[in-house]
Amino acid sequence: MEKTNVAIVGLGTVGTGVARLLLDHGDRTARHAGRTMWLKKAVVKDPTKPRDVDLPKGVLTDSLDDVIDDPEITVVAQLIGGLEPARTVMLRLLESGKDIVTANKALLAEHGPELFTRARELGRSIAFEAAVAGGIPIIANISQCLSANQLRSLEGILNGTSNFIVTQMDENGSSYEDVVREAQRLGYAEADPTMDVDGTDAAQKLAILAHLAFGATVDWSEIPRVGIDQLDPNDLKYAKELDYRIKLLAVANLAEDGLELSVGPTLVRVGTPLAEVRDAFNAIRVIGDAVGPVFYHGLGAGQMPTASAVVADMIDTAVGRTRLTFQTLEYFSIDQPPRAKLRDADTLVGRYYYRLPVANHPGTLAAIATVLAKHGISIASVIQHEKGDGSQHLDPVPLVIMTHEATEGAARAATSEIESLSAVTGPVVRLRVKD
Ligand code: HSE
Repeated sequence: MEKTNVAIVGLGTVGTGVARLLLDHGDRTARHAGRTMWLKKAVVKDPTKPRDVDLPKGVLTDSLDDVIDDPEITVVAQLIGGLEPARTVMLRLLESGKDIVTANKALLAEHGPELFTRARELGRSIAFEAAVAGGIPIIANISQCLSANQLRSLEGILNGTSNFIVTQMDENGSSYEDVVREAQRLGYAEADPTMDVDGTDAAQKLAILAHLAFGATVDWSEIPRVGIDQLDPNDLKYAKELDYRIKLLAVANLAEDGLELSVGPTLVRVGTPLAEVRDAFNAIRVIGDAVGPVFYHGLGAGQMPTASAVVADMIDTAVGRTRLTFQTLEYFSIDQPPRAKLRDADTLVGRYYYRLPVANHPGTLAAIATVLAKHGISIASVIQHEKGDGSQHLDPVPLVIMTHEATEGAARAATSEIESLSAVTGPVVRLRVKD
């Protein structure tokens, strides 16, 4: 049987999973690739560190040159996180004639055009299914399986760590700090979990998907984003009472006047598919003009789901499928797709959830309602709870308001005006609502 020699650079959580699949399931990968996928080298910083995988003698090395100088190795899973040295290593590997597979979405979101252009110049390919939504084959689906469609909308839960944290806080009352630690232990979180919880990771993934889905070049840092790091457990409680769940939702919608892109905690109606996505699962709902809505659901973080995508890309690369797609689709070309025109965020329309700490005095509700009315915002429902034992009223008291549809501009302006009312005693929480 033919043999393709492959290498792994970076043997962290994902790299270890990739090594396991290649070593423990060589018969399976050989069957699917029509050739043996032979792990010849695994490059690590510290070869003496204990590993969760038994590597055959001679595979482990601390020298990247052992891969670069070996012409027999043609496919490399480059699994170093962060921007540097990941970028330099990828360029060196491309220049030495290797085809690359990566899970590093931060690198692609930041340096995609440079790396992809260089790969094309050199006649090489970069496969990146594992970079977005772990085990869900969303890259292949958007770029190949749905290629007959003009995609219109894409919305999803793209960060497994955030979803895990919110689910655990919501269902088990766990503390934010405890769940972040647990997400790290389970291998869901990035090396720096700040990028998971502040919306950066989801925005980087959304920028990649928006490029594939709408042909738009998007600077991820321009995507308006809010994470779950400031989420108050009280909002999870009120969302539940209103029959919603809070999810970190990434949204891309194509309209006549541009592309709407955003990442933020959103109240998602219980019973809709996105509301049922729990723990480290990701989900993406895509709408195409021919196919209609399609829903993808699967583990978006963790060792083996991500390794599953990496190894599938290694097989595709070994058999030549990746190169065909890579050359035909011209991903991240420097001169190809125009920069996306982002829609003016103020014109976006949606429903809103407000939570305000207010003085429990006559006229407070009337003053807030007056501000909302002034900005053309209609109230859909209001919650204010009494203390429960009838002894004394709460003061200040949380007031929760759900609105009908309004523009983002109106909702934002109303928020700052409400915050300046003397009856409002603290910052206002405002979240988007998805029915
Ligand atoms: N840290 C990411 C997440 C997994 O939690 O979704 C890798 O993309």
